[in-house]
Amino acid sequence: MIILGGVLVMATASAQTPPPPTTPTPAQTTTQTDDPFPDGPGKSAFMKVCANCHAPDKVVGPLKTRAEWSQTIDDMARFGAEATDQEFAQIQDYLVAHFSPIGVNKATAKELAATLDVPAAVAEAIVKYREEKGPFASADDLTKVPGLETAKVDARKKRLVF
Ligand code: HEC
Repeated sequence: MIILGGVLVMATASAQTPPPPTTPTPAQTTTQTDDPFPDGPGKSAFMKVCANCHAPDKVVGPLKTRAEWSQTIDDMARFGAEATDQEFAQIQDYLVAHFSPIGVNKATAKELAATLDVPAAVAEAIVKYREEKGPFASADDLTKVPGLETAKVDARKKRLVF
């Protein structure tokens, strides 16, 4: 009986409680859905070059503007990161597309195309809408722009700056 009891205790102790399902609070639902490293042009160069000395997660904490990413990449090259010019350019575009603030009320169409990762025509529609109706107040406001997909905005909510 004692042995059985011991086995039972051990079995119970080693039975791992499964981690609770990831149900973020409603406020976070939309911001937590995006992959830390979304697929897209430049991802393979980024993974190849930027995961050598540190985990790629270390790279993408705070959002950085294009100029700041450019500076970081220069720093990494000085530390010894090796890539062709083309790869560094792809990495920069990838980081700007996924890890930079989106200044919805101030950015030019060109900047919006790069940071929101939308075609030039959609970026121009955003600027036109802003000029006609005044500054955007919220993500919902932004989704009223014709041609701009709601899913696109939702996936980038965290990065929108008003
Ligand atoms: C040769 C090694 C090496 C490679 C390759 C490398 N890094 Fe780094 N990285 C470092 C070191 C060392 C630090 C810590 C420096 C510090 O704390 O100032 C660092 C820190 C960072 C940081 C945090 C500090 C900051 O400047 O914001 C970022 C972001 C970063 N790296 C981005 C990148 C990116 C993007 C790439 C790919 C282009 C890359 N790293 C490739 C060595 C490397």
